[in-house]
Amino acid sequence: MKKVLIVYYSLANGNTYQIARRLQQVVGGDLVRIETVHPYTGSYDDIVAQGQREVDEGYCPEITLSSLSLTDYDVIALGTPTWWYTMAPAMRSFLVQHDFQGKTVIPFSTNGGWSGHVNQDMAKLAKGAASRCPLAVTFDVAGTGTIEQSTPALTEWLRQVRNLVTDSAL
Ligand SMILES: Cc1cc2nc3c(=O)[nH]c(=O)nc-3n(C[C@H](O)[C@H](O)[C@H](O)COP(=O)(O)O)c2cc1C
Repeated sequence: MKKVLIVYYSLANGNTYQIARRLQQVVGGDLVRIETVHPYTGSYDDIVAQGQREVDEGYCPEITLSSLSLTDYDVIALGTPTWWYTMAPAMRSFLVQHDFQGKTVIPFSTNGGWSGHVNQDMAKLAKGAASRCPLAVTFDVAGTGTIEQSTPALTEWLRQVRNLVTDSAL
């Protein structure tokens, strides 16, 4: 059985938290949330606009978990909302600050219908890691926390990740 860490960023413990929690219920492991040291403020539209500026600049905000040690973990699931077709800046900060050499990462993301290249971008930034079982989940745009669809289906993804975690050959 591999040691699992689930790291996620989610505005106000929203959609991405929902997936991270489901994953922990199935595979166990430690669940930790990245937070920005300076919280986003203003309206949702303000945050969308600030997010665009930050993504365009490749900005890495100051975050909690900067000094979290990954040494003891074999599999690290990385969850982020999609911000402007890629990861939220807080996840970018986490990825550039840590060493993923020899780890297996599982990138997962949530979105409102346009997932872009978020999972590929996370896999690329987790330098030295093998990337497995990516998942993108589309939530309704009204913000009710309802899942519209996911690729692959969420239950199938949970099964795949559980197999990966319990398979001693990997
Ligand atoms: C700054 C910002 C940028 C976003 N950009 C996208 C996007 O490019 N594509 C998309 O489908 N949804 C986009 N969304 C919607 C979120 O990805 C979606 O609501 C996500 O599930 C939110 O997850 P959370 O509740 O865990 O924060 C954006 C939201 C914000 C706040």
